[in-house]
Amino acid sequence: MMEYKELFPWVVGLHRLEENDYTLIRDELVSKREDINKLFTNNTWQDNIQTTFSECRCLITRFKLDKIEEIINPFIKSYLERIGFGPKKYKLAQSWLNVSHPYGFQGLHVHGENYITGTVYLDCEEGTGDIQFSPPLTELNFKKADTFTPANGDIIVFHGQLPHRVLYNKSQNTRLSLTFNYYIDHDDLVC
Ligand SMILES: [Fe+2]
Repeated sequence: MMEYKELFPWVVGLHRLEENDYTLIRDELVSKREDINKLFTNNTWQDNIQTTFSECRCLITRFKLDKIEEIINPFIKSYLERIGFGPKKYKLAQSWLNVSHPYGFQGLHVHGENYITGTVYLDCEEGTGDIQFSPPLTELNFKKADTFTPANGDIIVFHGQLPHRVLYNKSQNTRLSLTFNYYIDHDDLVC
């Protein structure tokens, strides 16, 4: 169900959600909008993205956003199988919303070796910020970065150790995305 692209040669999973799933995700977030809006703060990662991460490490767990978890879980399972780690133990550890206003950006970073990371793009009109993956540092001199332009309803999944950044929001629109980290049980990964 998910399409895979090999980079550097890390694997990135891409999929356009069914309209129904995209709507369910939005509706579940909207149902908690008042409480969620209180959690946004600035500059968590020394960039200019607003996020709920500082105030709440896992939005999905705190607000019992079960439909969202149900929709994204199979993509993590599929990704783990694709990279040869499935079936393994994995657990939603962190989830948060990001808002990028005009001129918003996020610098190059990783989420860590314990995580499989994913993002659902909820509102990302053209020009609000592409995601760019870079090779791991040891290969910087040999490989070029690869850039994706997300559309509303896209889900992207990748290993937490893959460096990535969000390019400038060159539009007049705000970009909204939901990001999550699934913890991979390392004991379970030992061969
Ligand atoms: Fe990230």
